Formats: sequence, C-alpha cells, structure tokens
Amino acid sequence: MKNTPVDYKVTKEVIESYGLPDFGKATIREVVAISSQLEELTKTEFIHMEMGVPGLKPAQIGVDAEIKALQNGIASVYPNINGAPELKSEASRFIKAFIDIDIDPECCVPVTGSMQGTYASFLTCGQCVQGKDTILFIDPGFPVQKQQIVVMSYKYESFDVYEYRGDKLSVKLEEFLSKGNIAAIIYSNPNNPAWFCFTENELRSIAQMANKYDTIVIEDLAYFAMDFRKELGKPFEPPYQSTIAKYADYYILQISGSKAFSYAGQRIGVTAVSNKLYHRTYPGLIQRYGGGTFGTVYIHRVLYALSSGTSHSAQFALAAMFKAASDGTFDFITDVKEYGRRAKKLKKIFTDYGFYIVYDHDLDEPIADGFYFTITYPGMTGSELMKELIYYGISAISLGTTGSNQEGLRACTSFIKDNQYELLEERLKVFKENHL
Ligand SMILES: Cc1ncc(COP(=O)(O)O)c(C=O)c1O
Repeated sequence: MKNTPVDYKVTKEVIESYGLPDFGKATIREVVAISSQLEELTKTEFIHMEMGVPGLKPAQIGVDAEIKALQNGIASVYPNINGAPELKSEASRFIKAFIDIDIDPECCVPVTGSMQGTYASFLTCGQCVQGKDTILFIDPGFPVQKQQIVVMSYKYESFDVYEYRGDKLSVKLEEFLSKGNIAAIIYSNPNNPAWFCFTENELRSIAQMANKYDTIVIEDLAYFAMDFRKELGKPFEPPYQSTIAKYADYYILQISGSKAFSYAGQRIGVTAVSNKLYHRTYPGLIQRYGGGTFGTVYIHRVLYALSSGTSHSAQFALAAMFKAASDGTFDFITDVKEYGRRAKKLKKIFTDYGFYIVYDHDLDEPIADGFYFTITYPGMTGSELMKELIYYGISAISLGTTGSNQEGLRACTSFIKDNQYELLEERLKVFKENHL
C-alpha cells in the first residue's frame, strides 16, 4: 500500500534501518525512536500510544510539600531508611481510607517507585525458603518486571490469564504452585496492559491458593483506584479498591505515586507489607543474613543495599498527597478520570473501523475505560499490526512483549491530545480502505 498517511518509502526505510528481525519484539524505546525519527523526517504528526507515561500535570499538593521540605534543608540529610515517619503513618491511613485494610505504619515502606518495590520484593521473596526460587507472573504484565528477574538471575514462570478467568483460575494456579518452587505470585490490578480487573472471587481464589501453598502475593497497584466503573475516590467509604489483602495472609501491595498522582518523575511509591508477613521469620533469611524478619530484611538489608532509602523530599510530597486524599480535601481520582474519557473515545474509533478489543471483559462485565486498552485487527498478527500502523502514524506496542498469547496491541491513552481523535479517525478510515 503506497497511499499511507506517513510517506511509505521513508517509513519502510526507517523501519528497516533498525534491523529488527521481528518487529513485534521491538521495545517501547525502539518504537519511540522509530516514530520520533519518522515525525521529524516526514513532518507528519504521530499518535503516540506506546508509552505508559502520565500525561497530566503533577499534583500541586505534592510539588508544594516537596519545595517546602527542601527549603527546610532536608536535602543534606540521609533519609531514614525505614521511611519518614510522616509518610509511613499517612500511607497506613491512606490504605485504610481507600482499601479498607489495616497495615501498620511500620510495614509501609517508601521506595523509589514501584519499580524498586517489585525488585526488592522479588529479591526478598526468592530468598525466604530454599527451593522456592521462582516468581509466577499472572500475565499479561509489565515487561520490565521480567527484566528485573533477568537482572537478578532469578527464575520466573508465567501464563496468559486470558483463557483462565473465573473458576478456571485456581486450577491453573494450583498447577504451578503444587510444584513447590513458587516464592511469589505477581499481577497488576487494574492490569497493565489489558486493563482488566480481577473480580472478588478471582482475588479470593488467588489468595486461597497462595495460603495453601504458602506463597507470597505481590499485588501491583500502579493504577490505584483507576477502575472507573466504581466510585472509588471517597475516603473511608465503600466501594474500596479491590485487593488480595482481604483474603491473603502474606502479601505485598505496591502503591505508586506515578500514575494516581502523576508523580512519576520523582520516583516515589510505597511498598506495604502485610503485618503478618512483615513480622515473619524465614529460614532462608536467617541463614543468609543471620536474622531478621521479612520486613526488616526488606528494609535494612535489601533497600539499604539498593539505594539507602528513598529521596527525602519526594517522601514529603507523597505524605502530603496521601494526607490530603484521606482528609477528603484532594480528589485525586477526578484528575485521572481523564484517561478513562480518552479510552472511551479511542475505543469507539478503533472499533468503528473494524478493530476489536482483545481483553474486553471481566467475566460478564465489560472492562473499564482507563489508562490502557488492547486492540486487534482480523487477519493480522500483533507484530504485523504494530508495523502496519506505523505507516498510518500510530504507534503502540505488541502484546507479545507482555506475556500475552493474543495477537494484538497495547494502546496507551496518556499522550493523546485533543486534536488527535479526528486525526485517528481520518487515518483509520484509510487503513480500513486499504485492508478490505
Ligand atoms: C504495572 C506497573 N507496575 C509498576 C510500574 C512502575 O511504577 P513506578 O513508576 O512507581 O516505578 C508501572 C509503570 O508503568 C506499571 O505499569
């Protein structure tokens, strides 16, 4: 097809210059590089849907608190490795307010983003019991977390949950857990890339299996309270963010400042370890470190070795945002609902032009509109679709890189600009005509 919105010849040349044997395996950074290069060379605007970067302004409450903390001179002082007491207690209160779960301040630990939170969690979980050395990913998932496993020379197993929703989930989990090598299970909820959310029954079955096989559950809440089907933003009032914490004994929640508060640049989040897990001793930890509980090893051995704590001023920012949210004076959900509005419009345009949403339901309920959604086009693999859309000035990443077995793409709503709905429609019209 030669009549593509982005010059066909130039696009072909640029794509080929990257020497990628399978375009579907291109990383997000490669897609960004290709699309940016094409934008420059052809002066054609791209609709960027590859990057999961918050596209909103950071919460002002956080910025103000951070400036104030810096003006008070905290930059010169090493942060307390346990975390600033203000943040620990506000994190515990925030968890009570929006998840309705009791986790003591002691067990709420600041990290330099959930990225560090999962790294330290994988590392610690894998050292607890000899032979339990593998992390189980309920996929699709966030590719960098598998990269973390590779970096630390750990092992992982994974399965695409697409075929195993509902009652089938616990049978599938048992298949893995009964082998006895699974140290921890990880998933994100809402899910990156597919934006499904596990139902209460599914969370209960994950917890039952984890309890039965004494496995730790790592629940990645990077998109905290962003299941916009529910009114989750009222502190200390139901409905609450769904969580494994209601059902499991040994769990770790990763709560990130990046998306809920658009605070990704400061690298701040909280790892909240269940009270029971925090205080539990494990033979592997005693052998390796000479003592300590899961929580103290996590902080005083692992985080200490990784970064000696978390940026001091960012902790004050997060504490202030948590506090204002729990006080009911800062409605963080209303701001991020913008992603849901964008997804609704984008999904309609894609489906009007012959695309389908891949992960479209939580059992019998349509998934929420949010930060991401997944698309497929009949007769094309994810890899082919990803490459083809580049010619139409649309960039997204293949589901293949997320551990999904489905043929399709992940589209992120965060960089969409107001003028781009019309542009998308124009381009997909041409795409449809060219693929009749
Ligand atoms: C599922 C998931 N977990 C973790 C992260 C990283 O969060 P943070 O910025 O807090 O490190 C992301 C960011 O895109 C994510 O999508």
